[in-house]
Amino acid sequence: MTENPPVTIRKFQKKDREDVRRICCSTGFLGSPVSNFLDGDEIFADCLTLYFTDYEPEACFVAECQGKVVGYITGAKDLRQVYRNNILCRIFIKIIASAALGKPKNRLFIWNLLMSLLKREFSDPDFSKEYPATLHINIQDGLRGSKIGAGLIDAYLGYLKGEGVRGVHFATMSERASNFFSKQRFSLLYRGKRSYFSYILHKGLPLYIYGKRLAE
Ligand SMILES: CC(C)(COP(=O)(O)OP(=O)(O)OC[C@H]1O[C@@H](n2cnc3c(N)ncnc32)[C@H](O)[C@@H]1OP(=O)(O)O)[C@@H](O)C(=O)NCCC(=O)NCCS
Repeated sequence: MTENPPVTIRKFQKKDREDVRRICCSTGFLGSPVSNFLDGDEIFADCLTLYFTDYEPEACFVAECQGKVVGYITGAKDLRQVYRNNILCRIFIKIIASAALGKPKNRLFIWNLLMSLLKREFSDPDFSKEYPATLHINIQDGLRGSKIGAGLIDAYLGYLKGEGVRGVHFATMSERASNFFSKQRFSLLYRGKRSYFSYILHKGLPLYIYGKRLAE
């Protein structure tokens, strides 16, 4: 029987930034590369990781295997803080400067996103008062199912508890990830739907919001 090489869970360091962005882009479409729907990894990585790695790195952890980063969890103690930091403005400027809107793949995606918006699919309840923290987790393909995700969740929840944070919540559209989060004893707070990937997947997707209370 061959044993998997050991994996270390440790605090994020500045040098991990590019690895986190790389894994984010290679897993960001329900575990597959974002290039399935977007022409612009830089912008996608900014949307999903920029705030976390650059403004709240102390809330991020990585999994390292044989000297390489193979997974990460990015977090924030208060989701509202994420939006207060002009992230959206910075990303918008980048989108314009990179001419990303001129690319057919991106135009198709944005069109479908707008259709979802018109169908009011984004009117999800706001859980940030009771569950202020958030998280985003991804493990490189090929190393999933080896307890790396569970290790990262433990490290992050330990950090939040130490900081006295009341609770954490986040959303996922992945059915498989949703099973993982149930196993990690997160409670399902809300179930919505999203149709903006139907043009690729030929079906709508569920949107699960999970949460966990950490302190009263
Ligand atoms: C979802 C993800 C983070 C889980 O991490 P992982 O390292 O693969 O999961 P682990 O090996 O730590 O699993 C821990 C437990 O959850 C269970 N689990 C993991 N994935 C599961 C799944 N898809 N369905 C059911 N149970 C699952 C495992 O069986 C294990 O249970 P056990 O403790 O009883 O043995 C990882 O698979 C991943 O990055 N997937 C692709 C991207 C993604 O969906 N990210 C989440 C976006 S929010």
